[in-house]
Formats: sequence, structure tokens, C-alpha cells
Amino acid sequence: MPTNLCLVIFLFFTIPGLASVAVAIGVNWGTTASHPLPPPKVVELLKSNNINKIKLFDADPLVLQALSGSKIGVTVGIPNTMLRSLHSSKKAAESWVHDNVTRYISNGGSGVRIEYVAVGDEPFLQSYGEQFQSFVIGAATNVQTALVRANLDSKVKVVVPCSFDTFLAESNLPSKGHFRADLNKTMIQLLTFLNKHGSPFFVTISPFLSLQRNKNISLDFSLFKETAKAHNDSHRTYENSFDLSYDMLVTALSAIGFSKIDIVVAQIGWPTDGAANANSSIAETFMKGFLNHLHSKIGTPLRPRNPPVETYIMSLLDEDQRSIASGSFGRHWGVFTFDGQAKYHVDFGQGSKSLVNAQNVEYLPSKWCVVNNNRDLSNATSSALEVCSNADCSAFSPGGSCSNISWPGNISYAFNSYYQQHDQSADSCNFGGLGLITTVDPSVGKCRFPVELQTSHSNCLHKAYVLPWITLAAFWYLRN
Ligand SMILES: *[C@@H]1O[C@H](CO)[C@@H](O)[C@H](O)[C@H]1NC(C)=O
Ligand SMILES: *[C@@H]1O[C@H](CO)[C@@H](O)[C@H](O)[C@H]1NC(C)=O
Ligand SMILES: *[C@@H]1O[C@H](CO)[C@@H](O)[C@H](O)[C@H]1NC(C)=O
Ligand SMILES: *[C@@H]1O[C@H](CO)[C@@H](O)[C@H](O)[C@H]1NC(C)=O
Ligand SMILES: *[C@@H]1O[C@H](CO)[C@@H](O)[C@H](O)[C@H]1NC(C)=O
Ligand SMILES: *[C@@H]1O[C@H](CO)[C@@H](O)[C@H](O)[C@H]1NC(C)=O
Ligand SMILES: *[C@@H]1O[C@H](CO)[C@@H](O)[C@H](O)[C@H]1NC(C)=O
Ligand SMILES: *[C@@H]1O[C@H](CO)[C@@H](O)[C@H](O)[C@H]1NC(C)=O
Repeated sequence: MPTNLCLVIFLFFTIPGLASVAVAIGVNWGTTASHPLPPPKVVELLKSNNINKIKLFDADPLVLQALSGSKIGVTVGIPNTMLRSLHSSKKAAESWVHDNVTRYISNGGSGVRIEYVAVGDEPFLQSYGEQFQSFVIGAATNVQTALVRANLDSKVKVVVPCSFDTFLAESNLPSKGHFRADLNKTMIQLLTFLNKHGSPFFVTISPFLSLQRNKNISLDFSLFKETAKAHNDSHRTYENSFDLSYDMLVTALSAIGFSKIDIVVAQIGWPTDGAANANSSIAETFMKGFLNHLHSKIGTPLRPRNPPVETYIMSLLDEDQRSIASGSFGRHWGVFTFDGQAKYHVDFGQGSKSLVNAQNVEYLPSKWCVVNNNRDLSNATSSALEVCSNADCSAFSPGGSCSNISWPGNISYAFNSYYQQHDQSADSCNFGGLGLITTVDPSVGKCRFPVELQTSHSNCLHKAYVLPWITLAAFWYLRN
């Protein structure tokens, strides 16, 4: 009997696909926002929603301090702009590892659980051209060497997040998958490096971009709908867009001799604004379909019962300064709004319970900047266009939440965006006399005019001292 039990346990832990008890799901946490939610509040948000893995795009000290002692698994990132120096200097790589890994990790139980260093942020993105390509492997190698010297290489793996456009396939057939021709040599070097050090392949899979760019992909196919028309690839059948892209990648990896390498989906999500098909209800449908698929552990036709080893949802929060090079939707990937309020339901392990919102969020006063209708507005449009080159006007894009707002409402939206970005300072609502500050919310329908977050540190500090005393007083009151 005990032998049988042992056998059962043994099988349970060794049969591929049953090996991992839970599917590892994390979230990308970017901070490219004019008024980022304070890191301690974000960490609170992560904890209250059982999110125990996070991928960062840099190594912000305030973020890493907030993560200290949290037991959350962390990927720290090296921005693309640092790749050149890390490639050319072992010293620079050692300093980077010392400042941004060793310092936080070596702090015993109260440190940060750093699991990966991501070298570059999608450095092979086609729109970057060859800017970063030739520095990536050298930078990764120097960071690896620095980790070995710091005696951290068994704890921390070096990875390179690859963009959705590093691989492709003729006629969109998974069996024809291959890496982009200009990356041919680089990918072999990268995979050789990863394989040697036991690091997984980090990659973005983007059913949303596939839908936008390929007429053959339907919305239903992207959203894991059972009614979607399947795609056939000789004898294999694909029932959703994720599997199609994933197997395209598996073929590309196999073609250069790395059919077995572990894959981590480093970014996957669905935006909620700034484009057609980008809204909360579609995003919720996608997320539900995708997470069900992961939890089922079915895998894909080319990797049956072998789903990605980890998956990082794109993303935690909206970021009003994130690049819109691929489209305005780039600022609206968040499962939560910029101020930490859930846009829709996602099951991070809490089941059907709603997500918990960020608590005690501090906003600027309820004030907005709008266009003054009593003025001659003949120059307002050109003024607003100029404003939009700085402020966030991503909701104006076709299909976006403010795409239908009529003139001069759209001018007001642009003015307000600029005003909020500048902490509601009076002179940021001037616009040559065309601006007017109001306390009446100018939002119309789906087009919300935001009020930005309070980011003044003195204020936070004050609250941080007062709150524990209030809590303590309440506790005594209840006890007695
Ligand atoms: C550590 O990372 C931060 C943020 O990415 C960067 O600004 C800093 O230069 C890094 N430290 C070193 C020594 O490179
Ligand atoms: C779209 O589908 C047709 C028919 O299946 C195929 O011939 C064509 O190559 C596909 N195009 C793309 C871009 O996948
Ligand atoms: C990529 O490299 C492989 C192996 O070196 C070679 O067979 C293939 O033709 C190359 N493909 C391109 C598009 O350069
Ligand atoms: C795909 O193949 C199945 C059978 O394998 C067939 O029933 C179905 O019609 C095919 N679909 C397309 C779009 O060719
Ligand atoms: C989201 O977009 C879809 C398709 O464009 C539309 O049918 C649906 O009503 C939209 N939902 C919301 C909440 O805006
Ligand atoms: C609009 O701009 C033009 C050119 O800069 C300027 O000559 C004109 O006075 C402006 N009109 C108003 C009403 O400000
Ligand atoms: C914009 O207006 C058109 C027509 O009134 C409507 O069909 C469409 O759904 C609206 N789009 C948004 C994003 O509100
Ligand atoms: C606002 O709407 C008007 C009229 O539809 C348009 O000409 C103008 O370009 C829009 N302005 C901005 C900043 O989108």
C-alpha cells in the first residue's frame, strides 16, 4: 500500500503536464506613467489579488524597496539604452548587477526574490531596426558572468524578452514558422546562450496584434470561442490564435535545433482603449478564454500537455506615457486603470470573487481644464494638436473611448490631459487664454476625463504616519 502511494505520488510529479501543481501566472508592472501609483500601494494591490510573480521593465529602487520581504518572484529589467555599455564593459555589467540585484537579494529573508534579469525590453522589435541587435548577446554574457562572480547564478537566470515579430510564418501556418531572416544568426547565439545556462526563452505572444494585422484571423478565433472557424495546418487543427502563434514559435525554435527549450510567455494581454476591438468586455472574454486554456494544461498541437512554464499578463496598470509606436492602445493594456481600479474580472486564483482595487488612492483635487467657449476658438484645434504631442490623447484613436466626442469637446479633453499631467498647475491651463478651470466633471458617456493621482511625497509620508495611529486607536476602542 505505501509502495503504491509512493508510485502514485511519483507519477503525479513526473508525468509531463501534471508536473506543475499550479500554472505560474504573473503580471508585467510598467511605470511609464506621468503619475505612477506609489509602489507600496501597488505591492498591496498585488498581495490582495494573489499575484505572486511580477515582471519589471527596469530596476527602480522605489519599486524594489516596496517589493522587499514580499516573497513575490521578480524579473528585473535592463532598458535597451543600457545594452551598448553592458555589451562593451564587464565592469558596467558588474556594477549593474551589484546595484540592482546583489544589493536587494542579499538581504536575507527581507530581500527581494529576484528570479530573472531581463536583458533589454524587446530589443529585436522590428521597428527599432538594428539599433540594439548587436549588443544583446554581449550584454547578456557580461551580466551572466557578473552573476557568477556574485555567486547568484543559481538563483537568478538571464533572459532576453523577444517581441511578437521576431518570428513569422508563410500563410500563417505554424508548420512554416521561422525567425525573421535578419535575426537568423542572433537567434542561434541567443538560444545557445539560454540553453547553456538553463534559462527559458522569453517571448511576447499577441493575439490582439495578430487580429489587427492579419485578415485571416477572426475575433472569435482570437477570443478562444468554441464557435470560431478552426485553421488547418495539414493534419493539425488550430482552434485559437494563441496556439497558432505559439506553434509557429515552436517550429522556429525547432528549425534552429532548440525544440525542447522552455518557453515563458513574457507578455500577453488585451488592451481596453485606443483601437477597434479594444474594450473591457472583449478583454475580459480574452482573459477568461486564455486562462482557462492555460489551466486546462492541454498545451498546443506541437507541445501537447506542455504549456508555457510561466506566463506574464500584459499588464497590471495603464501607463499614459508608454510608447504608442505600435498603436494608441499601447497605453491601455492594464487589467487595472492607472489608479488601480479593476476594469473587469480576471481569475488570478481567487475564483469568481472580484479583484480587489487599490485602497486609499490619493487624487489631485476634483478640477478639470476645458476650452473656454466664450473665446474665439478659431485657433483651438491647432493648439490642441500641439498639446497631444505631449499629453495623452490615445483615447481619440478610431474605436477609442473618446473617438466620437465632437468638437470642441475633443479640444477640452486634450487641454485637460495636459493640465492633469502638469499637476493641475494654473499656468498649464492657459493655452493663450483658451483654457478654463472647472469643478464640473466634463466627462461625456464612455469618454472619461481623468483626474490624476497625488504624487507629492510629503503628503504620502504624512498619511503613512497618521494611519497606523488611527488603526491602533480603533483597535483599542474595539477591544475595550
Ligand atoms: C541600476 O538600474 C537603474 C534603473 O534601471 C539604472 O538607472 C542604474 O544605472 C543601474 N545601476 C548601474 C550601476 O548600472
Ligand atoms: C489567408 O488564408 C488564405 C486561404 O487559407 C491563404 O491562402 C493566405 O495565405 C492567408 N494569408 C495570410 C496572411 O495568412
Ligand atoms: C538561417 O540559418 C540557417 C542555418 O544556418 C540556414 O539554413 C537558413 O537558410 C538561414 N535562413 C535565412 C533566411 O537566412
Ligand atoms: C479542417 O479539417 C477538418 C478535418 O480535419 C475539416 O472538417 C474542416 O472542414 C477543415 N477546415 C478548413 C477551414 O479547411
Ligand atoms: C466592445 O466592442 C464590441 C465590438 O466592437 C462591441 O460589440 C461591444 O458592445 C463593446 N463593449 C463595450 C462595453 O463597449
Ligand atoms: C490665430 O493664429 C494666427 C496665426 O498665428 C494669428 O494671426 C491669429 O491672430 C490667431 N487668432 C486668434 C483668435 O488668436
Ligand atoms: C461612435 O458613434 C457611432 C455612431 O453613433 C457608434 O456606432 C459607435 O459605436 C460609437 N463608437 C464609440 C467608441 O463610442
Ligand atoms: C477635434 O475634432 C475636430 C472636428 O472633428 C477635428 O478637426 C480635430 O482635429 C480634432 N482635434 C483633435 C485634437 O483631435
